[in-house]
Amino acid sequence: MAPLRICLVAAEVTPFAKAGGLADVVAALARHLDRAGHEVRLVMPLYGRMRELPFKDTGTDLELRVGERHYQARVRLTDLPDSNVAVRCIDAPDLYGGEALYRGDEEDAFRFAALTKAAFEVCQREGFAPDVMHAHDWHTALAPLYLRTAYEWDQLFANTRSVLTIHNLAYQGKFPAHMTTALGLDDRRDLLHQEHLDEGYFSFMETGILYATAISTVSHTYSHQIQGEEYGEGLEGLLRARADHLIGIPNGIDVDEWDPASDPHLPAHYDASDLSGKRECKRALFERFGLATEDLDVPVLGCVSRLTPQKGFELVPDALPVLLHREDLRFVILGSGEDRYESYFHWLQETFPTKVGFWRGYDEPLSHLIEAGSDLFLMPSRFEPCGLNQMYSLRYGTLPIVRRTGGLADTVEPIEPGAGTGTGIVFDDFSSHALLGALEHAISLYRQPDLFLRIQRNAMERDFSWENQIGAYEDLFRRLPEL
Ligand code: ADP
Ligand code: GLC
Repeated sequence: MAPLRICLVAAEVTPFAKAGGLADVVAALARHLDRAGHEVRLVMPLYGRMRELPFKDTGTDLELRVGERHYQARVRLTDLPDSNVAVRCIDAPDLYGGEALYRGDEEDAFRFAALTKAAFEVCQREGFAPDVMHAHDWHTALAPLYLRTAYEWDQLFANTRSVLTIHNLAYQGKFPAHMTTALGLDDRRDLLHQEHLDEGYFSFMETGILYATAISTVSHTYSHQIQGEEYGEGLEGLLRARADHLIGIPNGIDVDEWDPASDPHLPAHYDASDLSGKRECKRALFERFGLATEDLDVPVLGCVSRLTPQKGFELVPDALPVLLHREDLRFVILGSGEDRYESYFHWLQETFPTKVGFWRGYDEPLSHLIEAGSDLFLMPSRFEPCGLNQMYSLRYGTLPIVRRTGGLADTVEPIEPGAGTGTGIVFDDFSSHALLGALEHAISLYRQPDLFLRIQRNAMERDFSWENQIGAYEDLFRRLPEL
């Protein structure tokens, strides 16, 4: 079959700029679509923090017009590791010169509208006629609208279809209705959601959902959940109306980067046939967190996360301290986010200094050590579009404790102790009581070493590689002309 021409546009791409799983997934998609023989363009901002990267200058200047504002930009190339993809980085210091990926204010509307336009302009300059313009999350969700409006005149895009992948519906890019003027959307204000304009706002994500040829999201369960009130974040009606064009495609993981048999961040290696190296990782983990290493048989529960309400941390205060008080257990957590969670975990560490370690911040190597050195991994999410950490945990023989929601429900199989089947501990209710029950269950499993080892092996044998998922994107892209 003829290769497809695909233009991806996103606010985050690993390893250049990452706030969460979005960056990993966009990078993996570009890499694997390229490996499958397609022609890939990947467009992202050149953030201040990327200044030191090696870039190749294209000599291409763009003028990005967003309403009355005009931004000068230069296109610079940098290589996406382990691929032939040259990332088109949009160098516009007025827009992206700061350190932060997201400013969290109204300027973000201009920053990401401009990025989305840059994707079209890059295609024009390169004479690249994409079959697919692939947008990710709210930041680039105006792409389907631009395809029908600002770039509709250009024959280059005559056969271009759009896909919007929803990684997280909780972030929608909602802005006051009056900003449509400044953003240059007034010409076709009729295409925006009229009732919401009357209510005083418009949203990037909603506009993308309205006009994308197809919408995908990152797990099967989440694709159903977002059509209901509990997880739909107010967009459930619209998503139901577009259900025929909405598909769940589960994320994969980078099995080369996340491989306990070769991970360069680990002091020792292991695989399903011989887990002895995991004990050395546990020792290193304890040392790193200043915990005593005399007793390595004590169970350790790990966590790596953005500290936001999505991740279910409000269940922790009424569950974990009870257990820490009662049991010989260690808990190590790496993350940053909202103050209330950060101060809680500081408090927990001060209260149980010999049992708890908290590292505030973002630390890639440490995240690998936590995955490898822990016995159990905590992910009690309120909602989880897919989740990557539970898959990393499974691959590292670290049994995840998850709530049955979104991608967690799809990737972690509940343990049946009698049969020795399953891969992790799954609970249903979003309650501290249910979490406590799951933690108790996990510890009792840990105290049955033969059974625990068997479950670890089940977990390590599961295959979440991107090779298994990329075909679903290719199928979707090929079906677009009929949708
Ligand atoms: P989300 O995208 O909602 O944050 P995911 O599980 O999909 O959740 O992806 C999170 C990614 O970010 C994982 O690769 C995880 O290892 C990484 N990550 C999150 N917080 C940290 C941190 N503090 N340090 C290092 N890596 C982190
Ligand atoms: C989002 C979601 C997470 C998902 C990631 C990548 O940040 O919160 O569940 O794995 O995107 O798709």
